[in-house]
Amino acid sequence: MCSCLLENYVAAMVLSAAGDALGFYNRKWEFQRSGEKIHNELAQMGGVDKLNVAGWRVSDDTVMHLATAEALVEAGKTPDLTHLYKLIATNYRDCMDDMVGRAPGGTCMQNALDLDPENPESWKPNFNEAAGGCGAAMRSMCIGLRFCHPEQLETLIAVSIESGRMTHHHPTGYLGSLASALFTAYAVNHKPPHEWGKGLMEVLPKAQVHIQKSACFVEKNLEHWNYFENQWKRYLKTRGISDGKSLPSFPAVYGVKERDQFYKDLSFSGWGGSSGHDAPMIAYDAFLGSENWTELAQRGFFHGGDSDSTAVIAACWWGAMHGFKGVSASNYNEIEYRDRLEKVAKELYHLSLASE
Ligand SMILES: *[C@@H]1O[C@H](CO)[C@@H](O)[C@H](O)[C@H]1NC(C)=O
Repeated sequence: MCSCLLENYVAAMVLSAAGDALGFYNRKWEFQRSGEKIHNELAQMGGVDKLNVAGWRVSDDTVMHLATAEALVEAGKTPDLTHLYKLIATNYRDCMDDMVGRAPGGTCMQNALDLDPENPESWKPNFNEAAGGCGAAMRSMCIGLRFCHPEQLETLIAVSIESGRMTHHHPTGYLGSLASALFTAYAVNHKPPHEWGKGLMEVLPKAQVHIQKSACFVEKNLEHWNYFENQWKRYLKTRGISDGKSLPSFPAVYGVKERDQFYKDLSFSGWGGSSGHDAPMIAYDAFLGSENWTELAQRGFFHGGDSDSTAVIAACWWGAMHGFKGVSASNYNEIEYRDRLEKVAKELYHLSLASE
């Protein structure tokens, strides 16, 4: 039985949107490549706790996260997965109408508009070597809220992968979706964070079985499988947490500049957090190194990489594990779509209890 609380579900959804809006800052900070510049502006604005999100838009990340969450709720208590995928495909296509000023990614936009709810073939687009971006990872956290019980792991794997590859048919893309969802389930179950990485490594072979069984571009998927896993193994080794027992070790000096460099080193093409492997990885690095929301924001929301994508994920885990603890109310009180976020969070909570 989950020890999770309604407040944690609400906080997970609301804070993920708050983190997104903070990292995005109306397009200004998502694309600022210098973490130091962001931190200087942040200091001039009075620091994290003084930021008031009234009037700050959420990005494409939250619009798509809501699309996923609302489909999960609409599918009901004992969802037929084909019906669920149809609802997700519908919402992903339709939410593209709400992208003005939200900087949607190109891969998402193009593939989401091609989704036809009436045609299941369109839900599994062709394998795409360029679809390793973070667009699937930034919108899947709620899948971990919905399927949070350990005995629902197979469903969590299936839904995170299949919703992910609707727009990102590449393992680096959809395994990012799996990581974001899995770690949200861990967070809501209060699994100690230093154990999460090993957990993910143990789940990857099960994800591969899912791909093999699905009989859809299997060879291509397996050919490109290893990048995600190798990057994660390397990261876990760097922090000394491959065994799932040791506590993480960080460099003695690990400030804004050092983090920017590290995030860049983790990345596929120089922009930390913009891929399926490193968006959840940077969120995880920030989560592991933070004792409070303020520190989490400093590390996970404000850096020279794809800040809103790492923020939406890290902030969701914070809410799932700690609720609103230590979060300045101005950071989330007037967040855009607050009502929709709270409503869907409460519904997800009740569905997750019902299926125990
Ligand atoms: C937040 O945590 C960091 C370390 O993660 C610590 O240095 C800082 O003092 C803490 N701030 C508050 C307000 O507790």
